[in-house]
Amino acid sequence: MKKRVVIITGAGQGIGEAVAKAYGRHGDCVIVADLNEQAANQTAEAMMNEGSEAHAVVCDVRKEEHIIELVRQVELQFERIDVLVNNAGIARASYPNGITLEQWDNIINTNLRGAFLCTREVAKVMKKHQKGSIVNIASTRAFMSEPDSEAYAASKGGLIALTHASAASLQQDRIQVNSISPGWIHTGDEMELRAIDHDQHFSKRVGKPSDIARACLFLTNPDNDFITAENITIDGGMTKKMIYEH
Ligand SMILES: NC(=O)c1ccc[n+]([C@@H]2O[C@H](COP(=O)([O-])OP(=O)(O)OC[C@H]3O[C@@H](n4cnc5c(N)ncnc54)[C@H](O)[C@@H]3O)[C@@H](O)[C@H]2O)c1
Repeated sequence: MKKRVVIITGAGQGIGEAVAKAYGRHGDCVIVADLNEQAANQTAEAMMNEGSEAHAVVCDVRKEEHIIELVRQVELQFERIDVLVNNAGIARASYPNGITLEQWDNIINTNLRGAFLCTREVAKVMKKHQKGSIVNIASTRAFMSEPDSEAYAASKGGLIALTHASAASLQQDRIQVNSISPGWIHTGDEMELRAIDHDQHFSKRVGKPSDIARACLFLTNPDNDFITAENITIDGGMTKKMIYEH
């Protein structure tokens, strides 16, 4: 069987890096796309050092021309795209002093419009092979909020809607589209976390990037192609936690 060709956006660090490494270890050919050239190169080099196939590409998902060029180059080199993980996102959620139009547009254009454009362009290639699988990395903030997070929450809620709308549009081409809504996923040093950080979760621990990477592999496993237009929340139970003051 040919290696699958997998594009991960925002794969230079954090969750995207872990997702890229998981596909690499699985034996797939991974395109490490990121705005940050140095981070993309570092992820790809680390993957190659452990024997995985990885290719770093600079891509700013806010820019349509970058996405078109990324997809053109990948198709030219590998002739196919099997999996897309729309992970690139601006994680900053809160603007307590009020958000400017520029900041709003930046968040929406990165987190939501970028995923739409990547889906639109990659689907053109998947369509030629009549199969493919797309995962959008949303957030539990699509469903729950803290104050001053309208843009981030709206972008992630938009991603949930984009997921089922894309799944409907792309069904004839056998392209599945799902989303994952992570809760608190700690991408830094484990030692930074306090006992209360872990204990407040039903799972008694904060999430790890590998929790999300395993779910991406699961959703894009061809045996699981009955799952589409779905969202999986991975948050240690936090969005199911009822909170009353006693
Ligand atoms: N970490 C969490 O707790 C958490 C929770 C819920 C959802 N998420 C989502 O998961 C995704 C990854 O989060 P993370 O914590 O790993 O973030 P991160 O900030 O550690 O990494 C994000 C990566 O995306 C890249 N990026 C940013 N803007 C880009 C652009 N315009 N084009 C291309 N690449 C771009 C950055 O360079 C970086 O490498 C985001 O979509 C985020 O909203 C994270």
